[in-house]
Amino acid sequence: MTDHLNIKASQIHLFKTVPFYYQSREGEFILYKKIGDIIKKDRAVKTKHPQLFILKKDKEDALKELTTALNANLVKEIAEGGLKQIKQALCNIVHEALDPNQEKAMESMPETIDILLEAYGQDQGTMGYLSKITTNSPMMEEHTVNVTALVLQYCFFHNFSEADTAQLALCALLHDVGTSKLDKILLETDKRLTDMEFKKFTTHPKLGHDMIILNTDFDISVATVALEHHERIDGSGYPHGSKTISRDSQLIGLIDSYEPLTYRNKKFRKAKKPFNSLQIIKGEVLEGKFAPDIFKKFASCLIK
Ligand SMILES: [Fe+2]
Ligand SMILES: [Fe+2]
Repeated sequence: MTDHLNIKASQIHLFKTVPFYYQSREGEFILYKKIGDIIKKDRAVKTKHPQLFILKKDKEDALKELTTALNANLVKEIAEGGLKQIKQALCNIVHEALDPNQEKAMESMPETIDILLEAYGQDQGTMGYLSKITTNSPMMEEHTVNVTALVLQYCFFHNFSEADTAQLALCALLHDVGTSKLDKILLETDKRLTDMEFKKFTTHPKLGHDMIILNTDFDISVATVALEHHERIDGSGYPHGSKTISRDSQLIGLIDSYEPLTYRNKKFRKAKKPFNSLQIIKGEVLEGKFAPDIFKKFASCLIK
C-alpha cells in the first residue's frame, strides 16, 4: 500500500498548506513543493509538472483546502458574471463531492449553497438562465447542477424561506451522490441500459442515503431524498416501491425526471424543448406517478 495519493493536474494551483511530492525513476518520493508554497495558476497550466502526490496523512487537510478554493473560485466567477464559467465552477464542486475517494467533500456543499443564495436570492431570472447553459462536464455533474438550478428556481419563484431553499438545494446537490459508487460506464453510456445494468443502477439511492448518513451531519431529509427520489406515489418506483414518500423527495424526483428530457442527448433520446418535456411529465402525473399540485407549481415556475 502506498502512503501517497495523486493530485489532479488541473488542481495543483489550488493548494498551499500541503506539501507535494513526485516519484523518482527509482520509485522514491521526493519533495516538490513545501508547505506554504503555491504553484501559480499560469505556471500550473504552462509548465509540464510530473505526476504530483500528497501524503495520505495530509488527505483531510488537502480536501479542506481544495473545497475552500473551489468555493472561492465560484465567488470569483459570480463576481465576473460569466454564467458558463459559474456553471463550470459548480460542476467542479459537484465533481469532488461525487468522487468516491473524497466523501468528505460533501461537507462543503452548504457553503456552496450560501454563496449561490447570496448572489442570486434576489434575482430569480439568473438561476433559470443558468440551468439552460450546457457545459462539457461529464453527465452526472451537469445533471446534478441542472437539477439544483431548477430546484433553486422553483424555491425562488414560490418565495420559499432562505432556510427551506438552502435545505432543498442541498438535497438536490446530493440526490445522486450514490452514483459515485457505480461503474462509470453505467452513467456515461449513451445506450439504453440492459436489465442487469439497470438493476445495478437502481442501487444508487440506498448507496447515497448511506453515504450521507455516514459522512455528514446534514438534516435527515437530505438522506431521505437520496433514498426516495426514484420512488413514485403510485408505488411504481424503486428501490422499495414505496407509496409514502416525502414532499421533498416528490419534488426532487419530478425535477430529476424532467431534467434529462430537456438537457440530455442520448442516442435513443433527443433533447426536447421545455414545453414538450413538461408534456411527458404531465403524462406521468396522469398515470398517478407524481402529485398534480407539485407538477403545477413546477410548471408555473418554468412557464412564466
Ligand atoms: Fe437518481
Ligand atoms: Fe438524478
